[in-house]
Amino acid sequence: MYIKDKSQIRFPPSRNIDMKVTVVGAGAVGASCAEYIAIKNFASEVVLLDIKEGFAEGKAMDLMQTASLNGFDTRIVGTTNDYSKTANSDICVITSGIPRKPGMTREELIGINAGIVKMVATSLVAHSPDTILIVVSNPMDTMTYLAHKVTGLPKNRIIGMGGALDSARFKYRLAEALDAPISDVDAMVIGGHSDKGMVPLTRLATRNSVPVTQFISQERLDAVREATKVGGATLTGLLGTSAWYAPGAAVSGLVQAIACDQKKIFPCSVLLEGEYGLTDLCIGVPVVLGRTGIEKIVNIDLSDAEKQHMQQSAAGVTKTNGLLSF
Ligand code: LAC
Repeated sequence: MYIKDKSQIRFPPSRNIDMKVTVVGAGAVGASCAEYIAIKNFASEVVLLDIKEGFAEGKAMDLMQTASLNGFDTRIVGTTNDYSKTANSDICVITSGIPRKPGMTREELIGINAGIVKMVATSLVAHSPDTILIVVSNPMDTMTYLAHKVTGLPKNRIIGMGGALDSARFKYRLAEALDAPISDVDAMVIGGHSDKGMVPLTRLATRNSVPVTQFISQERLDAVREATKVGGATLTGLLGTSAWYAPGAAVSGLVQAIACDQKKIFPCSVLLEGEYGLTDLCIGVPVVLGRTGIEKIVNIDLSDAEKQHMQQSAAGVTKTNGLLSF
């Protein structure tokens, strides 16, 4: 049946926890976010919003038709730019904007994406004043900072997603170098979400609690670190556009940690006010995520070299922030 009147789209009731999550942008990253959130089956509702007529409705319906196959009860609702449908969302994810093409840096997207993120963040908060915002659009650290400036939400409720993704890519590269299962590897990337700005913490990476430095040479670790930093660019070269599965999965991890009050630690881009010796920028540091958003910024005792990398990374983010106009 061809549905002309979209108000005719009806869903069975959901018995998951009463949690409304909005994802703005029904492109590859947004749709992957919605799919992974649904598959994890904890939230009652995901609203997918896009400006392209009928696109989010179509993605939502297609995803809903996987519900019985994939075993989830999350209701996924699509809307063409109607922010009233997002009202009272507990969590809102911003994926809108253009992705990078091969050869581009994330920073080059600022001209177009700043205007989009400004409009989207303002519209979301107008309808959901108590929401927690997760920013994915690039250049992500600067877009997170912009979201702070335009919404004025408290710092615990604005979270930039980059470190969770970069850390997943780091673990993938480490497992490859170690010839070990990824589930045995624990590691984290802090700093800016950019090719030059990422700070993969090789010193603290472990293989089931044993420092990875015990298994692989410094030279190999340096190669892992460099491959991690250009993880997104490598995929952009292969795909012709930026990646979506790992970004979507990383967002779903943050959403679940908040929704289920898991108190998990993820590196996220957050507004710093003196932590790590940095102020007035958003950049990736480890945080505890729970029902109120960022519940704590975790301080790591960095080595002098790591501190220096963090300072350089912060200088890069601050430079990109300087391109914003409010
Ligand atoms: C990436 C984009 C999401 O790193 O920044 O794939």
